[in-house]
This record gives sequence, C-alpha cells and structure tokens, in this order.
Amino acid sequence: MTRIRAGRPEDVPAVLELLDDAVAWLVSLGRTDQWGTRPLSANPRRVALTEEQARDGELHLAVDGDLVVGVLGVGGATEYVPPAVEPELYVRLLVTRRAYAAKGVGSFLLDHARRLARERGVGLLRVDCFASEDRALVGYYERQGFTATDRFEVTLASGQVWQGQVLAQRLG
Ligand SMILES: CC(C)(COP(=O)(O)OP(=O)(O)OC[C@H]1O[C@@H](n2cnc3c(N)ncnc32)[C@H](O)[C@@H]1OP(=O)(O)O)[C@@H](O)C(=O)NCCC(=O)NCCS
Repeated sequence: MTRIRAGRPEDVPAVLELLDDAVAWLVSLGRTDQWGTRPLSANPRRVALTEEQARDGELHLAVDGDLVVGVLGVGGATEYVPPAVEPELYVRLLVTRRAYAAKGVGSFLLDHARRLARERGVGLLRVDCFASEDRALVGYYERQGFTATDRFEVTLASGQVWQGQVLAQRLG
C-alpha cells in the first residue's frame, strides 16, 4: 500500500538510489541523452541539490512500508525555462522505482503535486522534461493532463545541447 510522506535529509541516499536506478534503466534502453550514463549519486552538484531540496522540505516520497518507491520534488521553476506570469508550483523532480513501474506511482505523486499547489492557492502546475525525438516523456506528461508549452535548449559542460520541453497544467 503506497502512501506519501515528507522527504527528510536522511532520505537523500534513497532518493539518489532511485535516480541511479533510473539512469541504469535509461542506459539499458539506449536513452543516454536525458541523464547521461553515469550514476547521478557521483555528481556532486546533484547530491548538493538533493540535500538542499530535502532540507527545504521540497521532497515528497511515495513509500511502500519503509521502501521509497517514488520521489516528487517541487519548488520554483528552473532558471533555463521562461518564467511563469502567475504564481505556480513547479515539478523539479519525478522518479519512480523500476520494480514499481506501471503501478501508477507517478500519477499518485502528480496528484500530490496538484494537492500541494491548491493548498498554496496556486492555479498553475508546470514541469519540464527531456524532449527526445519520439517525445516519450512529453507524451507521458500529456497523458497526465499537461499541455506542452515552451521548448528550450541547455548547452551542457560537455558541449551537448540538451533539448527540453516545458508542460503546464491549469488547476481548477
Ligand atoms: C517518468 C516516471 C516518473 C513515470 O512513472 P510511472 O507513472 O510509474 O510510469 P512508468 O514508469 O510505468 O512509465 C510510463 C511510461 O513512460 C515511459 N517512460 C518513463 N520514463 C521515461 C523516460 N525517461 N524516457 C522515455 N520513456 C519513459 C515508460 O517506459 C512507460 O512507457 P509504456 O507505458 O510504453 O510502458 C518514471 O517512469 C521514471 O522514473 N522514469 C525515469 C526517470 C524520469 O525520466 N523521470 C522524469 C523526469 S522529467
């Protein structure tokens, strides 16, 4: 039975473990352009960001008993996307445990994001994701009720140009 609880600083290793599993899964599919090929737990910037999100109360965990099966990170928009023209909640991180794929954990966490937004009196939920040519993730968020809005590009330190897509959902 999955429930949601607040993420705490001591949950950071479990969050990084899910991220590492996701990278390994993406690599196994040949989808190396989204999050690269190396464990994100080996990236000091990612570790520091996760610690900061946990400290700031921005992480929300789906748990099955004691097992973390999904993570939602919320906050303000990332600096590389066009700012919203109204108050919003931004999904900064969404990842689920591979063994729990296709069980609705992602939808469950996005429902929680909508709930958080409403509690904060905010009428707009946005997210961004990797815009692969086959639009796999974009399509996932569209099926979750989001509408694709702005495209953007980020030039990574490696010189690779990362293609991104912002999606938005208006909350009633
Ligand atoms: C995206 C995610 C949170 C959705 O979780 P979920 O609601 O439990 O859904 P599932 O894991 O069953 O995935 C749903 C579909 O999206 C696809 N998908 C998920 N992440 C994908 C990705 N990064 N790239 C391409 N396809 C992806 C899955 O293969 C699945 O496709 P299918 O329905 O054809 O089998 C989860 O799949 C995940 O952690 N993905 C890897 C990390 C990631 O990309 N997070 C989003 C960053 S914006």
